[in-house]
Amino acid sequence: MDQARTPSADRKQAEPASTPPPYYITKQQELELRIKASQGVVMNGVPTSPVIGQSTSFDDYVRQLMIPTRVLELARKASSIRFSAWETEAIRALIAPGDGEQKGLLRHILEQKAAADDSHPPYIRVGCTGRGEYDDLAAQYGYKKSQEEDSPLGDFGSPIVLELWPAQHYSPMHSHGDTTGIIYSLSGQIDVMLYDRLDWDAEKVGLLTLTPGQCAWLDGTRFAVHKVYCPMDGGSEKVGPGNLLNNSGNFAATFHVYLNPSELPLVSAAPKPKDHTRDQFTFVDEKPPHKLVQFTTYSDLSWSILRRLMADHAARIGM
Ligand SMILES: [Fe+2]
Repeated sequence: MDQARTPSADRKQAEPASTPPPYYITKQQELELRIKASQGVVMNGVPTSPVIGQSTSFDDYVRQLMIPTRVLELARKASSIRFSAWETEAIRALIAPGDGEQKGLLRHILEQKAAADDSHPPYIRVGCTGRGEYDDLAAQYGYKKSQEEDSPLGDFGSPIVLELWPAQHYSPMHSHGDTTGIIYSLSGQIDVMLYDRLDWDAEKVGLLTLTPGQCAWLDGTRFAVHKVYCPMDGGSEKVGPGNLLNNSGNFAATFHVYLNPSELPLVSAAPKPKDHTRDQFTFVDEKPPHKLVQFTTYSDLSWSILRRLMADHAARIGM
């Protein structure tokens, strides 16, 4: 019998198309990974939730039990932060596609990032301390940081980062080293895939979705390796390796905190980036042969600049 002509062989050939980036999984696998994440990952013999929440049942309580107190404290401090309607609308306008004067600063940054690195669709890191790589581009739009605003901290290793995820864009798989931190959803929706180690062939241990007010956590041994994706509507053209920029202003915003093992309370960043701290993280290159690449963390833009851009947009539209 000719195996190649059987219906099951045809289905097998069709499989690659059904396992697209960012996670290269089928719908059935996605469902299984979502169930896995909701059941918790076993730690010290106890199933533990990667998401911090208020227990609503005995099972929930068990899943919250092994979450470190340090992380709960970070989550509690973040728990009332939200993006207001005018902040969300301003960022949407700054991300939306446009030509010439209509092009917002954030779309401009995305285009430059995509041109500089075509391994995955870009996202924007806004540093709440230090300078951003594209602060000079912001100056062309008339937004300059004043000297008084310049943070005494270094440009790498900001402990707090606001991340903006255009719809359908995604990060590579990466590790946060030995840091302890939270990923708190401010606006829109993101998916987070958790892996057991930093390797292209790593086992996927769970998939979760965060919506505003929800918080995921990580530390040096738990949930440190992940990949983030914004599943919102990115427009008519599929975003992926051949098309790195969406055609939409839709986005998700997340607030990230990373503490190094040595700190509590916070101390100034070291003058040189240190390995296994938030100064340097590691990711898996999306392109074959999927090597591990170390990168010194950075910000694209300073929060003080983005805050002014948003306020000006709100003033223009009368909010
Ligand atoms: Fe991350």
